[in-house]
Amino acid sequence: MEQRSERNHIRVRKNTIIMERILFAIGTRPEIIKTAPVIIACRKDKRYTVKVCFTGQHKAMAMQMIDEFGIKIDYDLRLMKPQQSLNYLASATLAKINAVYDDFCPELVFVQGDTTTAFCAALAAFYKEIKVAHIEAGLRTYDKHHPYPEEVNRQMVSRLADFHFAPTKSAKSNLVAEGIKPSLITITGNTVIDALLYTKTHKKYFTNKILEGLPKNKKVILVTAHRRESFGGPLKDVCTALKALVKNNKDIFIVYPVHLNPKVLKPVHSLLGKEKNILLIPPLGYSDFILLMDKAYCILTDSGGVQEEAPSLGKPVLILRDKTERPEVVRAGCAKIVGRNPARIIKYAQKLLRSKKFYRSLSMKKNPVGDGRAAARIKKKIDSV
Ligand code: UD1
Ligand code: UDP
Repeated sequence: MEQRSERNHIRVRKNTIIMERILFAIGTRPEIIKTAPVIIACRKDKRYTVKVCFTGQHKAMAMQMIDEFGIKIDYDLRLMKPQQSLNYLASATLAKINAVYDDFCPELVFVQGDTTTAFCAALAAFYKEIKVAHIEAGLRTYDKHHPYPEEVNRQMVSRLADFHFAPTKSAKSNLVAEGIKPSLITITGNTVIDALLYTKTHKKYFTNKILEGLPKNKKVILVTAHRRESFGGPLKDVCTALKALVKNNKDIFIVYPVHLNPKVLKPVHSLLGKEKNILLIPPLGYSDFILLMDKAYCILTDSGGVQEEAPSLGKPVLILRDKTERPEVVRAGCAKIVGRNPARIIKYAQKLLRSKKFYRSLSMKKNPVGDGRAAARIKKKIDSV
């Protein structure tokens, strides 16, 4: 005999909460990449009714990924505005996702990571007493300004979630130390490695024509930088370092797919647009980006996802941040934190170019954050509830 609670959508059968109607809330490029393997796994299982709500926090950058992974969108909230503020985005997400929850009546909402979409979708679900599952739970720097605002977003999601899918042991330890019951935490590995390994196997050639013409006689350095805490001075510093690197090293060629945020796009183009050995390009589709990572000599980035992926390809990473919530990657010898200071960036990039020993020490192939089976572990846990 099935009963539906008066206050919310939850159905109960024999004292067990039913979780057959699953909603995935996604909004930005990395959330789509990292949630896709779980959506695909759940959609294959006919016991579940699965729907996807795309908040539209990102537009073009998200559509690239939605198309690439073939994700069917059931609800599109179309939220992105140029230069949107965090308060606009948060309030609009809360206001609009309510109707989605009322229409679909999900029994479980999946969120991923630490974006405004993830936090607000989790909060709105909690307010309606819908269970929340958090993919990539437990990452921490414990500095609320690094990364900003993501550190606070993910801590708040942990307060709201009912199922915590931690990529690593140390992420689980963070959650346990915060008082979350160990039985609610599952160590899964990071789903980005599922996406990466699948894509790498199926992709051998660039789709983007610009990439076919990369110089064969130069070492390609791949750069990405987009974080809010780098806007202004620190991003300028990164650009200064890149300029100096191409000036001092005739054998390198920098490729920088530039994030579409005008606070990144404008300064990067105005500072580096005329440099001969620096190629600024629009964001790449996932498979082109993975292939470019694979062809690169090394990577300079402030991206969370790129830090996680690079070890699977054996590519050294210099992290353009002061702190990382992925200490496993640094401890395993796959990356070094160099910050945004030009002298430090130049020092370590040149060391990678000149010292084979240093290069080898940062090119481990064993990935400490995932093995490609995270989505299966997440689904197994949900199946068992
Ligand atoms: C967001 C996430 C960040 C994640 C990043 C991934 C939050 C608070 N931050 O930051 O954790 O690392 O996404 O890239 O959720 N824009 C476009 N087209 C797009 C996407 C963005 O033009 O397809 C521009 C818009 O002007 C938009 C701005 O970028 O207003 C900022 O986007 P937003 O999602 O607010 O922040 P991100 O810096 O992308
Ligand atoms: N990525 C991509 N195309 C690009 C740049 C990045 O497909 O031009 C992928 C990358 O492989 C990684 C993810 O986007 O999986 C990282 O996204 P981003 O750096 O925007 O966000 P973060 O990981 O820092 O939250």
